[in-house]
Amino acid sequence: MNAQLFSPYTIKQVTFKNRIVMAPMCQYSAHDQDGKIQDWHRVHYASRAVGGVGLIIIEATAVLPEGRISYRDLGIWSDEHVSGLKELVDLVHRNGAKIGIQLAHAGRKAELEETIIAPSAIPFPDKKTPKAAESGDIRRIVEGFRDGARRAKEAGFDVIEIHAAHGYLLNEFLSPVTNHREDEYGGNADNRYRLLGEVIEAVNSVWSGPLFVRVSANEYDPQGNSLEQYIDYARRMKAQGVDLIDCSSGGLVPAQIQAFPGYQVNLAEQIRRQAEVATGAVGLITEPSHAEEILGNGRADLVLLGRELLRNPYWAYEAAKALNITLDRPVQYQRA
Ligand SMILES: Cc1cc2nc3c(=O)[nH]c(=O)nc-3n(C[C@H](O)[C@H](O)[C@H](O)COP(=O)(O)O)c2cc1C
Repeated sequence: MNAQLFSPYTIKQVTFKNRIVMAPMCQYSAHDQDGKIQDWHRVHYASRAVGGVGLIIIEATAVLPEGRISYRDLGIWSDEHVSGLKELVDLVHRNGAKIGIQLAHAGRKAELEETIIAPSAIPFPDKKTPKAAESGDIRRIVEGFRDGARRAKEAGFDVIEIHAAHGYLLNEFLSPVTNHREDEYGGNADNRYRLLGEVIEAVNSVWSGPLFVRVSANEYDPQGNSLEQYIDYARRMKAQGVDLIDCSSGGLVPAQIQAFPGYQVNLAEQIRRQAEVATGAVGLITEPSHAEEILGNGRADLVLLGRELLRNPYWAYEAAKALNITLDRPVQYQRA
């Protein structure tokens, strides 16, 4: 039987063996504020590779120390991070999966002692007031993403995902709710897109592999960007060579989100149809038949699973069984 979920997918000569993607999920498990990987990361990510996932996107990894959400985030702001990340990449490759990294800057949602940066000096409710980025800060951010991409390449990652969702720095620039700037980085959509556009260009200057961008295509704020605006942003990203838009939602402002199975799939579907770009669907996708429906009906090209893969690293094998597919288990597990 042909199941879309288990059909390979190729972007720029990189083939994922199936369409199951582990969504990026912070583990807050780096020690000593150094941003380096620990045993936890080795075991956690390699387990999902053994579990049959096609692509693992590792957690939000800070391109600058002030861009961490917490002191325990992973980092890629220094060349000293490369060897640990390379170890992780090799481990996941040896266990049969591709691996991507989510490059991130937390902006006003950083929970750090030091000065935090955002487009405008508007705090996230109950959090510290950020400093509005000056031109030197903007240059540092763009260079941070570029250098992070270079290091990701040196570490051997298959995919880079730029984190422009969940109310972190790049999302804050995109949205009129958080961006009140009066210079060329604020105001109309061209200006609000400018920083993300420059980050994509900077990443492209050192990276020619598959490039994803994660967005929050519903900001849950009447003053925020509409889905139509995100379709426009997706067209711009596609024109800049972005291969896939990972369609999430929320995080910009506190909001009560009515989450139900596949609650964000519509965003992936509309962006895919209207911007004619590949998309990833994420959010409460836990049933194999649901994943199959999303792919089979052309609503997205990949499905990302977060919490389900925390609960069940072997979801891919169970999904295969449910869809009447025979997957080869690791030889060590075949007697099971
Ligand atoms: C523990 C945890 C950490 C997360 N960290 C990140 C992250 O680093 N980057 C990101 O874009 N999303 C992050 N998310 C969101 C997930 O990637 C995913 O979009 C969300 O959990 C919805 O998918 P699910 O219903 O399959 O869990 C995180 C979610 C969880 C539960």
